[in-house]
Amino acid sequence: MRLVATHSIKTGEKIGKPLTNNNGQILVQEGVTITKRMIERLKKLNITFIYIDDEESEGIEPTSVITDQTKAEAIHDIRHAFGSLAEETTLSKSFILDRLGKNFKKTVKNILVDVRESGEAISLLSDTIGHDRYTFFHSLNVAVYSIAMAKELKFTEDEQLTIGIGALLHDIGKTEISSSILKKPDKLSSEEMVEIKKHPDIGFNILRKCFELSTVSAHCAYQHHERVDGTGYPRGIKGNDIHRYAKVIAIADVFGAVTSNRVYSKAILPHEGMELVFAGAGSQFDLKTIQAFRKTVAIYPVGLTVILSDGRKAIVVQQHRHNSERPVIRIIEENDRKVLRPYYVDLNKELTITIVETETTLSANENKLISRFYF
Ligand SMILES: [Fe+2]
Repeated sequence: MRLVATHSIKTGEKIGKPLTNNNGQILVQEGVTITKRMIERLKKLNITFIYIDDEESEGIEPTSVITDQTKAEAIHDIRHAFGSLAEETTLSKSFILDRLGKNFKKTVKNILVDVRESGEAISLLSDTIGHDRYTFFHSLNVAVYSIAMAKELKFTEDEQLTIGIGALLHDIGKTEISSSILKKPDKLSSEEMVEIKKHPDIGFNILRKCFELSTVSAHCAYQHHERVDGTGYPRGIKGNDIHRYAKVIAIADVFGAVTSNRVYSKAILPHEGMELVFAGAGSQFDLKTIQAFRKTVAIYPVGLTVILSDGRKAIVVQQHRHNSERPVIRIIEENDRKVLRPYYVDLNKELTITIVETETTLSANENKLISRFYF
């Protein structure tokens, strides 16, 4: 399977992973031949890249750190929580979440086990069409990244559990923000910006009244948009005044957001997302936390086509946990010609060769559309 940008898909290629709609129903099955109409539709839906199957990528399978069961249960719980809170007052929201607290703990424990047992770097590229489920998948992704970082930073299991719950519910305050604002594809007005920036405060007020959940989880929701240099919101607190868990969630939140298709911007690839996070190192984001993140996330996901420093072209086959900049790759082209028998190179062993480019990049025009703002 190979990961390709929608703008470079050719008709006649085959879908590698089923494409699902908002409700998880399959819209296009794997193996289906791609038509011109399908490509147009994908572009309209803002899907920037998909998996295709071809001869050169045969046998390459993207892997997931969390199991399908953990994923399904987590999405069910998050969806249920957001759904049941929609029409309630802040106080009854706390009561409802208290009832759901045990489910969240179980879900987060399952994620902890999956992260502990997987030896791979984390790759969580979305294969879903549609934006309604974005918040649910985003919340889960933020929890997975945060737990993996917490583990890397040697947080205890109890701390990992608390940060996982905080991450899973970090945006729960959005249940009081109008969906017309949340789903608005255009730039928000200053009044709308004021509205949306209330969600950390609202989330804090809901979560701090939950007896089942730690107050620190509530602070995760409260502080996830604060930045180390004081440029964040709602309070503009700085440095060590920001809880170390919130510093972890801030990175997971931004990276998860920019690498997903959202209603107002298109997804960028993990190595591009990583560059964006690094651009904020020491100013917006905590440096030590970024370093932990870099060790856990798959910068070059399995299926990505890359160009090497010696000009050879390859597809990423396998990740190394802790060193995902140097994955195992399958060489498919050398000296500008297809190789007859593709062969494997472990970049972790061949240290003189580096990845200099990826073939699956967005067109310059698409790149301009990427919003540098996230909430
Ligand atoms: Fe948020």
